[in-house]
Amino acid sequence: MTLINAEIKDKIALLTLNRPEALNALNSELLNELYDRLKKLEQENDLRCLIITGSGEKAFAAGADIGEMAEMDADQAEEFAAFGHKVFSYLSAFPCPVIASIHGYALGGGFELALACDIRIAADTARFSFPETGLGITPGFGGTQRLARLTQAAYAMELIFTGRRIKGEEALEKGIINLLVPAADLRDETMKIAESIAGKAPIAIRMAKAAIHQGLDLDLETGMEVEAELFAECFESNDQKAAMQAFLKKESFTDFRNK
Ligand code: COA
Repeated sequence: MTLINAEIKDKIALLTLNRPEALNALNSELLNELYDRLKKLEQENDLRCLIITGSGEKAFAAGADIGEMAEMDADQAEEFAAFGHKVFSYLSAFPCPVIASIHGYALGGGFELALACDIRIAADTARFSFPETGLGITPGFGGTQRLARLTQAAYAMELIFTGRRIKGEEALEKGIINLLVPAADLRDETMKIAESIAGKAPIAIRMAKAAIHQGLDLDLETGMEVEAELFAECFESNDQKAAMQAFLKKESFTDFRNK
């Protein structure tokens, strides 16, 4: 049985965590498969958007696998966290935009997986928390770093220290998710955003993603230099020439070719 289902349609890839009997808990086998799938997908010539979601009714992912972690010593735990970081950083730096489509529980490592994506769309059934401190550990797949950067350090501290579970409204208010939708609409609303991204110039989108990601770790002036370089690279694409010429001729243009 495969722990990650992969589908590609109209240049949009959908990866589904497929371990519903354990609420898609992230064990080493699943993380390995996710990494392998991502590496294969990266070879796809003209992928425009990637969606990550969970199977089953109850969860996006209910965290790292507690049964597996219960048996680890400190060295094994460090290796487990390092591999989680490697997979999630690979996902975060994936060349095309990545959307987390979240229903039900997104706890611990599941929350961290969502935080490693570029855009988060949540159903009204979504519940987010970091239960780790109640299990005698810290978050270990990037949660202490990404939540503090995405929101505020004090807010990340409160959620991580208390393990408080939050609903979609609070996640939206705090900027953790981009969109909150009724559960029945989650797939359609996710696809709408993915299709909207897929309809724009793919080279420009990849450059914009790279500029934002690189800029977050830089001072403003250096970030501007990165932006100028990536902006300039777009001018080497046929898509830029074709789209601008079409505008000047007052024609509509959607036929982006990724070159
Ligand atoms: N690791 C391993 N197994 C997990 C898991 C995890 N993080 N989360 C859920 N599961 C397993 C349960 O052990 C159970 O397996 P079983 O049927 O073999 O007993 C199955 O998934 C269903 O979970 P269950 O607890 O019966 O569902 P529930 O609806 O009663 O509760 C949760 C759902 C999410 C509240 C509960 O499963 C939970 O607290 N999970 C752990 C969350 C967590 O602490 N995550 C952070 C880990 S660092």
